[in-house]
Amino acid sequence: MKIGFWGSGNMARVLGGAWSVAGHQVVFGSRSAEKSRDVAAEIGFTATGGTNDEVAESCEVIVSTVRAVPSSLLTTTSALAGKVIIDLNNRDFPREYQPEEFLNSLAEATQKDVPAARVVKALNNQAMEVFNSDAVALREAGVQAFMAGDDHEAKQVTAKLLNDIGLKPVDFGPLSNAWLLELQADILRTYMFATGNALVTPGFIEAPRAEPRFGERRKGTY
Ligand SMILES: NC(=O)c1ccc[n+]([C@@H]2O[C@H](COP(=O)([O-])OP(=O)(O)OC[C@H]3O[C@@H](n4cnc5c(N)ncnc54)[C@H](OP(=O)(O)O)[C@@H]3O)[C@@H](O)[C@H]2O)c1
Repeated sequence: MKIGFWGSGNMARVLGGAWSVAGHQVVFGSRSAEKSRDVAAEIGFTATGGTNDEVAESCEVIVSTVRAVPSSLLTTTSALAGKVIIDLNNRDFPREYQPEEFLNSLAEATQKDVPAARVVKALNNQAMEVFNSDAVALREAGVQAFMAGDDHEAKQVTAKLLNDIGLKPVDFGPLSNAWLLELQADILRTYMFATGNALVTPGFIEAPRAEPRFGERRKGTY
């Protein structure tokens, strides 16, 4: 398949490399055709470089690695009708990200209500059906349980209790991160409602460790 990229940065480079290895024809696009040609030369295989317009014209599938809408990158979007565009962009996400609408997590409300207690957010991301399995089965399946809290000892107590019922605790940092675990539940529940599958649980699956195949991370973002 002929796969094009808008932007020739980190993600374009590594995915372009990976799809080249998989036998696809890759075209890197950029504001600077010289830059995209350099990236194509770095990747090798049959990869080529050009402008973002050329990618829009010539590719069947286009991966947008630019946090901007196509019309701001291209002279015309007319070639895009019917084309598949994969958008892998994420919003800017500063470490201290605290969006107003989610700021008041239920866990923090409890902590605020009872300041002398030690609140830990946990177990909000497992449907009750998960516990139809016993600890041995859950442990074997590697089911994880995220937790957030400010008190180290309280988290240790919680971790032990999670472990006792077969869940592998994942420390997700301070209680100010609880809103993210509550958001995670929204994602899970949306999936559950759509599929009827209540056995899905969140977890971090680590990719295997390996040397960079297509160059190190350069200035860029996650
Ligand atoms: N890096 C990761 O691990 C990762 C993982 C998942 C998702 N993402 C998302 O993927 C996107 C790209 O990340 P990245 O790490 O590849 O960043 P990057 O290396 O900075 O590449 C982004 C490319 O976008 C283009 N660009 C930037 N500003 C532009 C503008 N104003 N107009 C037109 N083009 C512009 C640049 O391409 P040219 O200079 O070639 O035009 C740049 O190389 C982001 O939305 C990020 O959140 C990143």
